[in-house]
Amino acid sequence: MKRIFIHDVITRDGLQNEEQFIPTDKKIELINQLSNTGLDKIEVTSFVSPKAIPNLRDAEDVMKKIKRKPGVTYSALVPNLKGAERAILCAVDEINLLVSVSDTHNLKNIHQTTNQTLESYKEVMRFLSKEDILVNGSLGTSFGCPFEGEIPEEKVLRLIDQYLELGVNGITLADTTGMATPSQVYQLSTNILNHWPDLPLTLHFHNTRGMGLANVMEGIRAGVIRFDASLGGLGGCPFAPGASGNICTEDLVHMLKFMGYEIRTDLDQLINAAKYLQSILTHDIPGQIVKAGKITDLHSTSEI
Ligand code: COA
Ligand code: ZN
Repeated sequence: MKRIFIHDVITRDGLQNEEQFIPTDKKIELINQLSNTGLDKIEVTSFVSPKAIPNLRDAEDVMKKIKRKPGVTYSALVPNLKGAERAILCAVDEINLLVSVSDTHNLKNIHQTTNQTLESYKEVMRFLSKEDILVNGSLGTSFGCPFEGEIPEEKVLRLIDQYLELGVNGITLADTTGMATPSQVYQLSTNILNHWPDLPLTLHFHNTRGMGLANVMEGIRAGVIRFDASLGGLGGCPFAPGASGNICTEDLVHMLKFMGYEIRTDLDQLINAAKYLQSILTHDIPGQIVKAGKITDLHSTSEI
């Protein structure tokens, strides 16, 4: 069965949107637990303005103090040259550049139009060309924008082209506020993979409207094999109204494993990491498997 690559974004997308600052040592412990689960990639943090995202103001400390495991790609989100310089000093494996397809969201998130940000990435890529580092290009609001509504496919394709011209190694399409429908995911992913058959394409879904796992299945049907997800199902962009959690990593791994896909992430260890996550938060996590158990966890008839 097909190998699917799982990337976890809890300590970036998840914790950026929490009301409370999660202490640095707890973030490090959480990432160390995740490293042991066999995830393919972990988006550790973001090197953004601490005024914009105060919860991730400890990016350097976290990045430098985690125990790195061979085989795991340790990635960080970067919106500008200053972020790239900070990330390089921490020896991240991959820089994840970010721009939104929607000008309106990009202005809220990064204070620039989409074109201004892409233009600024030319200098970032020149700086990074001297470094031995992977660069991924993320496109926020790829499937819809909470301000502008529908996003035309041609716009997404054009921005992928621009990113590839800049020299990125891979592309992520992010559904920032869970507006993607499964049929849209199939159509857009098919079009992209027809244009660029060898492109390492990642899909990043939020489960805001309950379509997250259905979207993954339609992405797989179109040929996509890389997915972002967040432990416990936390996440969301503070600069997008109504944003809520990513698809939940342990729920995703549970579904795909029981369907027979090849996933190198250990489900029991993921569930244990989700329990640890729950223990450091003061509210319930949205993930379902951590509460319901796996489909193979049977009950004794004396329980009811
Ligand atoms: N890391 C740390 N500090 C940074 C920074 C970075 N990557 N980029 C800018 N700053 C600092 C500047 O040094 C300046 O500090 P000062 O006020 O002490 O002089 C301040 O932030 C403002 O910088 P400026 O270049 O004027 O940027 P801005 O205020 O227009 O903000 C971004 C632009 C991109 C830095 C900011 O909007 C941002 O970090 N956005 C990230 C949003 C995000 O992560 N969203 C969630 C993901 S979807
Ligand atoms: Zn996200």
